[in-house]
Amino acid sequence: MIKPDGVQRGLIGKIINRFEERGYKLVALKTVAPSKEMAERHYADLKNKPFFPSLVEYMSNGAAPVVAMVWEGSDVIRQGRAMLGATSPLDAASGTLRGQYCVSIGRNAIHGSDSFESAEKEIGMWFPQAGELISWTPAIWNWVMSNN
Ligand code: RTP
Ligand code: MG
Repeated sequence: MIKPDGVQRGLIGKIINRFEERGYKLVALKTVAPSKEMAERHYADLKNKPFFPSLVEYMSNGAAPVVAMVWEGSDVIRQGRAMLGATSPLDAASGTLRGQYCVSIGRNAIHGSDSFESAEKEIGMWFPQAGELISWTPAIWNWVMSNN
């Protein structure tokens, strides 16, 4: 998910481009203005953290939408997190998205699911309707994904 700061800063294309160029397949995408309830559900695992109220406010105050996406391909959850870089951009490797574009933990531009279970939960939350995930095969798929 591209967070409101990533959207405000015009980073949508650059972030999408990084995943496309790596060879991953985009199977769903939408802009959403998250409600407070959606932001709270999305970050429910952090509800006891001191920064939770301000994180939820920032995600849901309407200053910018988020861009929710589902990407598919080999090891995409772990690789996606690696492409994002460390939560605090000051600890993020310079080649990562956060290491290249961000300096603040509160404005780190992009969210990535951290496990299969959280990906399942988040896909269900942000793309709840039947037909929102598109099954398709890029013509180059085997050129990117094949192991032999
Ligand atoms: P995300 O869920 O957004 O992909 O980030 P993450 O897994 O790398 O980090 P997580 O621990 O899940 O934290 C979620 C978001 O909360 C904000 N945060 N602020 N002020 C703080 O100490 C602090 N710690 C975390 C960050 O925006 C982080 O991405
Ligand atoms: Mg997280």
